[in-house]
Amino acid sequence: MARSKSTFVCQSCGTVHARWAGQCEGCGEWNTVVEEIADAPPVGGKASGRGESAKSRAGRIAFVPLTGASERAPRLATNIGEFDRVLGGGLVEGSATLIGGDPGIGKSTLLLQAVAALSRHAKCAYVSGEEAVDQIRMRAERLGVADAPVELAAASNVRDIAAAMDAADGPQVIVVDSIQTMYVDALDSAPGTVGQVRACAQELIRVAKRRGTALLIVGHVTKEGAIAGPRVLEHMVDTVLYFEGERGHPFRILRGVKNRFGPTDEIGVFDMTGEGLMEVGNPSELFLSDRQRDVAGAAVFAGIEGTRPMLVEIQALVAPSPLGTPRRAVVGWDSGRLAMVLAVLEGRAGYRLSGNDVYLNVAGGMRISEPAADLAVAAALVSSLTGEPIPADMVVFGEIGLSGEVRAVSQSEGRLKEAAKLGFSAALTPKRRSRTDAGALRVIEISDLQGLETVFGKGAANQPRVAEI
Ligand code: TYD
Ligand code: MG
Repeated sequence: MARSKSTFVCQSCGTVHARWAGQCEGCGEWNTVVEEIADAPPVGGKASGRGESAKSRAGRIAFVPLTGASERAPRLATNIGEFDRVLGGGLVEGSATLIGGDPGIGKSTLLLQAVAALSRHAKCAYVSGEEAVDQIRMRAERLGVADAPVELAAASNVRDIAAAMDAADGPQVIVVDSIQTMYVDALDSAPGTVGQVRACAQELIRVAKRRGTALLIVGHVTKEGAIAGPRVLEHMVDTVLYFEGERGHPFRILRGVKNRFGPTDEIGVFDMTGEGLMEVGNPSELFLSDRQRDVAGAAVFAGIEGTRPMLVEIQALVAPSPLGTPRRAVVGWDSGRLAMVLAVLEGRAGYRLSGNDVYLNVAGGMRISEPAADLAVAAALVSSLTGEPIPADMVVFGEIGLSGEVRAVSQSEGRLKEAAKLGFSAALTPKRRSRTDAGALRVIEISDLQGLETVFGKGAANQPRVAEI
C-alpha cells in the first residue's frame, strides 16, 4: 500500500516544513515541529496556514431545539464500584477514555481487572504493545481472572488494531496498552513521539466513535517528559483519568480530570495487593489506621473528595534549621499553599516559624488539593512548633485567608458526619454559615487564627520556639 505523505508542522504557529527542524522558521520557537500525516486534518493545532480548497462546497447544518428528548448514553458497568463511580456509572459506548499515570503504578493491572469484569456481559479485547500474551495470561492468573472471556493480542500497529475493531465481530470494549508503544506506519517518527501518539489516538478514536466501541487508552506520564506523555491527548478524548499513588505505599487513587459523561471530582481508592487492586470502600479508616495518638504535629483533616467525605492525617514537623534559608518540603499538598499558611501564621498570628525547617506530609500517599485543608495544616504546624498535641479525637477543617481569617467551606455537615461515624468527638471548624447538624460532635468554631489558642492554650504564639527549648 502506498504510504501517505507526511509533513512537519509547527505546533505553535502552524507553519508547514518540508523536513524536521529543531527551530520553527515561522515563529522561531524551538522543539515545536512535529511530523503529521499530510492528508489528515490537523488535530487540535492551528490550521496548516493554507486556505480551504476553493472547491469545497458549504452544506447547511440543521439546527435542533435545545429542548427535546435525548437518549441517555447506556453504560457498561464494570461492577468495580470505585472505577464505575469515577467514570460516572460505567463506560459509555463510543467513548474514548485515557488512563494516565506513572509507569509501574498499576494501570495495566486496573484495566485487566476492569475488562475481565466487563467481559462477563460484553465482548472485550485487550491489546498490549508492552507485554507478550503469555505475560498478560500470567498476570490474569495472579489476579484470579484467568477464566474471563477476554480476547488478548500483542500488537502495536494501529492499522491492524483499527481493522480488528472494525471487523463485523469487533469488540464492544477495547483496551490499548499503551499509546506510547503504538505506531502508524504513515509516519517515520518513532513510537512515543508527539506526532505518533496523536496520530495513533486520532485513528483509534475515529474507529471507536464510528463503531460505538468503548476505547480505553493507557498513557504513561513521566515527571519530566510530559511532552510525549498523554497530555497531548487530553483534548482528543472524552474522559481523562489519572491513576496516582506514592511508590512504597499500597494505596492507589483513580482521579477523574475530565469527563464528558460524569463528574470530574470523584476519586476511586484502591489497595495494591499481591492479588491485584482491591477496592477500598472506606478510605478514611484506611488512611487513619496507622495513626499514633497524642503526638505533636499531627492533625486529622476532614476532607471531601467528590461526593465522599474522607479523613486523612496531616503531619508536620517544625525543626530548628541550621541553614540560612530553611528547608520546606511537602508531600501530598501544594508547596505554594504551605508557604502562604506559614506566612499568615507568622504575620497575622505571631507564630515564629521563619527560622525553622518545615516538613509536611499527608499520610498514606494521598494528595489533597482542597483549600479546606489550610486550617488542618496550620493546626499541625502550630502543634509541632509548640510541642502541644491536638486532641486525638478532634478533626479540623477550614480555609485560611491572607488576613488570618478562617473561612467557611462547603459540605461541613458531610465532614462532621463522617468524623462522628469514625468515633471522633470534637471538631475545629470555621464559623458556619448556617446551623448545620453536628450530631454528637463538640464543635469549636473559630473566625481567625487567634482562635487556635482554644486548642493550644493562651499565649501559644508567644511560646519559645522549639529551637530555643
Ligand atoms: P502495572 O499494572 O504493570 O503498572 P503500569 O501498567 O501502570 O505500568 O503494575 C505494576 C506493578 O504492580 C508492579 O510493580 C507489581 C505490582 N503488582 C502488584 O503488586 N500486585 C499484582 O497483583 C500485580 C499484577 C502487580
Ligand atoms: Mg503497563
